[in-house]
Amino acid sequence: MSKKFHIHTFGCQMNVHDSEKIAGMFSESGYAEAHGVNDADVIVINTCSIREKAEQKFYSELGRLKHFKDRDPKLRIAVAGCIAQQKGSGLFKRFPYVDFIFGPQNIDSLEKWIGQESGVRSQKSDNKTQITELTDNPEHSIKNLPVKREGRVSAWVSIMYGCDNFCSYCVVPYTRGRERSRQVSDIMTEITELSAQGFKEITLLGQNVNSYGKNLNETNPPSPPFDKGGQGGFANQNIDFSDLLKAIHEVNGLKRIRFVTSHPRDLSKKLIRTMQDLPNVCEHIHLPVQSGSDRILSLMNRGYTFKQYKEKIDALRSAMPDIAITTDIITGFPGEDEQDFELTMNALREIEYDGIFAFKYSRRQDTAAVNLPEHLNEKTKSERLARVLDLQAEITFRKNIELEGKILEVLVEGASETDKDKLTGRTGSNKIVNFYGGLELMGTLVNVRILEAKQHSLNGEVIP
Ligand code: 5AD
Ligand code: SF4
Repeated sequence: MSKKFHIHTFGCQMNVHDSEKIAGMFSESGYAEAHGVNDADVIVINTCSIREKAEQKFYSELGRLKHFKDRDPKLRIAVAGCIAQQKGSGLFKRFPYVDFIFGPQNIDSLEKWIGQESGVRSQKSDNKTQITELTDNPEHSIKNLPVKREGRVSAWVSIMYGCDNFCSYCVVPYTRGRERSRQVSDIMTEITELSAQGFKEITLLGQNVNSYGKNLNETNPPSPPFDKGGQGGFANQNIDFSDLLKAIHEVNGLKRIRFVTSHPRDLSKKLIRTMQDLPNVCEHIHLPVQSGSDRILSLMNRGYTFKQYKEKIDALRSAMPDIAITTDIITGFPGEDEQDFELTMNALREIEYDGIFAFKYSRRQDTAAVNLPEHLNEKTKSERLARVLDLQAEITFRKNIELEGKILEVLVEGASETDKDKLTGRTGSNKIVNFYGGLELMGTLVNVRILEAKQHSLNGEVIP
């Protein structure tokens, strides 16, 4: 009987996709997926350190696993992801029942570890392994790892790794390393295969997809068929994110292309034009503003003023009047006073986002903001977070109500989780729509009349 693995994932889409790669490596090695921790031979916790809350949840989950290891010493426990990278061997000291620690750049090291584990050793393991090598070498870990995907309609594809922005609050450059773009030919091969397997929607993943291609020439040799230059093709060394979108747009069978995340500073006119010109690129952009106050934006090292940010929003909306815009907000950054905070509230009123993710500032190890003066107390941070969320809830709902009566194109993802007779899917603007219909519609684009707006989704009916 084959051994079984179980993965518990915390954090962002990048991490969820990394878990798909981890699952792919176990599957390739002959492991089956367990139903949960109870019947697993190996448990992997893929961790996130972006905010304190995610970190605390991980510690409580890891604490819970001690009991399972005590009961069955043959159980193997691995810790992956951003906390593994940051804490390294410190985790072995605090949690001696952990067997393997590997960082986000070292997913490929699983192959060897799984090989050892599948070998003769079967009783209690004192053989601790830690692989948290963090390198700027772009060749490293840009391997084409096997992927076991969660959905059947929509798939994630990494186009770059790491981040060079060093926003003063953010841990990512320290956990995922410097920015590295993946080679065009590898991306195209993966997407072409996904389309052949029947996937209809691709979401391109990177911390800052707008700067895709930077330094690609220095690190990767030109790769056919994109090294032609001149008419029709383009030289690999000059390829940027817009060029990549154009190449992906040519892949047969794909109905939609999405991407996250974009940095406002690097959002070019060329990209706006490209989005406008390519019908399969969804009319949605996630453009984190973080704050409406220039003073705070500067302390955050974001590289733009609110006015510059707003100009980009205006350019997006004049090119694509129906584009959905979403954002991230941090409340209670060190030094944020009531006036700064009001500027963030005004930004929400002025831009009227389709949706936001908002977080209270969280002090993160290694980041520059830790050393800023005037850290705010938890109560103020939480109060401001609640005010931001209340304001946005009103705006989101109002914008959803405006959609009632409209006919929108929806890509059907599958059965709704709450009502099995209903289907669920998304509009190009990334709004969730639920409606009655048969599963044969899965993976197709259907026109749906919106009947009722809810806070987080829409109800509708298919137009035959
Ligand atoms: N505290 C609060 N929020 C943070 N984010 C990143 N780092 C922190 C932090 N230290 C938020 C930002 C980012 C999103 C992914 O998480 O808003 O855009
Ligand atoms: Fe993703 Fe950042 Fe969390 Fe790492 S720390 S999992 S990159 S959100």
